[in-house]
Amino acid sequence: MKAAHALETPAPPQAEFTPKILAFVCTYCTYTAADMAGSARMQYPATVRIVKYLCTGRIDILHILKGFEAGADAVMVSGCEAGSCHFLEGNLRARERVEYAQHLLEEIGLGAERLVMYEVAASDAPKWVAAVKEMTERVLALGPSPLNPQWGPQAAVPAEPMAAVTK
Ligand code: FES
Repeated sequence: MKAAHALETPAPPQAEFTPKILAFVCTYCTYTAADMAGSARMQYPATVRIVKYLCTGRIDILHILKGFEAGADAVMVSGCEAGSCHFLEGNLRARERVEYAQHLLEEIGLGAERLVMYEVAASDAPKWVAAVKEMTERVLALGPSPLNPQWGPQAAVPAEPMAAVTK
């Protein structure tokens, strides 16, 4: 559900909006699945930019918030399945951080639904493909992030406002 104070972004024409999704993934499971999906030539939207971590337990809340600040429309965190983390509890810690970050996103009006955690095993390339498709559809329904420089409120501000004034 959208918060009452949620930031609003003018809805772009659907045909023009391509979501930008950051995927923070662990190298042992999700990255291997994504690699396998590529090797098997599985088709999925080219909306994700993958950032590889040794383990999702290394992902800090600041990394997630920086991603949004840089203009990502959504962030997915994806690691090993429960009980399969190569560092024992990294994915459990990541889940706690994701839940806290969702709370922060709700508070600042971006909306918790722009951040989702997945568990994708190394052998489960179809699950990775399904996760990317699901996240892309979610962002298309939500629209661009208000912090997306292409669509947010700052898009109307000239890149160099002083140049316009001094001409
Ligand atoms: Fe994959 Fe920890 S090694 S989540």
